Amino acid sequence: MTQTSSPTQAAFELLADTEAVATRVAAIIRHYLTRTADPVLGWATGETFRPVYRQLIRDHRAGAVSFAQAVHFNLDEYVGLGPDHPAAFRTAMRTALFDHVDAAPEHIHLPNGSAPDLDEEAARYEALIKRAGGIGLQLLGIGRNGHIGFNEPGSSFEGRTRVVRLAASTREANRAAFPPGCPVPERAITMGIGTILEARSIVLVATGAAKAPALAAALNGPVSPACPASALRVHPAVRVLADREAAARLALAA
Ligand code: GLP
Repeated sequence: MTQTSSPTQAAFELLADTEAVATRVAAIIRHYLTRTADPVLGWATGETFRPVYRQLIRDHRAGAVSFAQAVHFNLDEYVGLGPDHPAAFRTAMRTALFDHVDAAPEHIHLPNGSAPDLDEEAARYEALIKRAGGIGLQLLGIGRNGHIGFNEPGSSFEGRTRVVRLAASTREANRAAFPPGCPVPERAITMGIGTILEARSIVLVATGAAKAPALAAALNGPVSPACPASALRVHPAVRVLADREAAARLALAA
């Protein structure tokens, strides 16, 4: 089931379930990778994208997509976890996607949350994105509190890549990814909302009932730093894809 309507200026697609969303998002990524001369992809970690990445791996194995020509930037990383830590986003991206496709290792970038000078690292990351020509397609999940990347409620829409303090609710939501006894870091480095809004196109993905209030706030509530994802409504090329559960509280335009 696909219903296309427009609760905001963002293009909106309602799909039946997680798998239908994954199939559609993977198709958008494939299309971008195969039709773009110098693709620059902005990736997101999190449970939302696992089925998407599984689909992309299948597509790659079937010869339908190559990642070899692309440059890759991840949205965010925890502060203080080494690159091989099981809960680090670098590890998560490797195991969920990069280890299974032909992405060039020298073109895979994540903020280094173990850098000795984190402000310098944030500036380095911004410069790297600029040098690559900016992000062509940015993927985004949404936090239960409306965060994008790790830009928590209250984040400025002009924000750049920087160190942030994580909300207690975000740390709790992400706890399952950490081994028992390993505390969730209190800080992360994230692309800022200003950085994200410079991407030429953006795909926001929401699945599952837990995301329904945040998605409704993002698309139907005020455009305000109180809901970071609402910033996307000022971007000219945003697509929002949601399954029925995540879309349950949306006021959909007829
Ligand atoms: C995480 C990440 C985001 C992610 C979001 C939703 O904390 N920083 O990049 O998109 O929150 O995560 P999930 O897909 O696991 O619900």
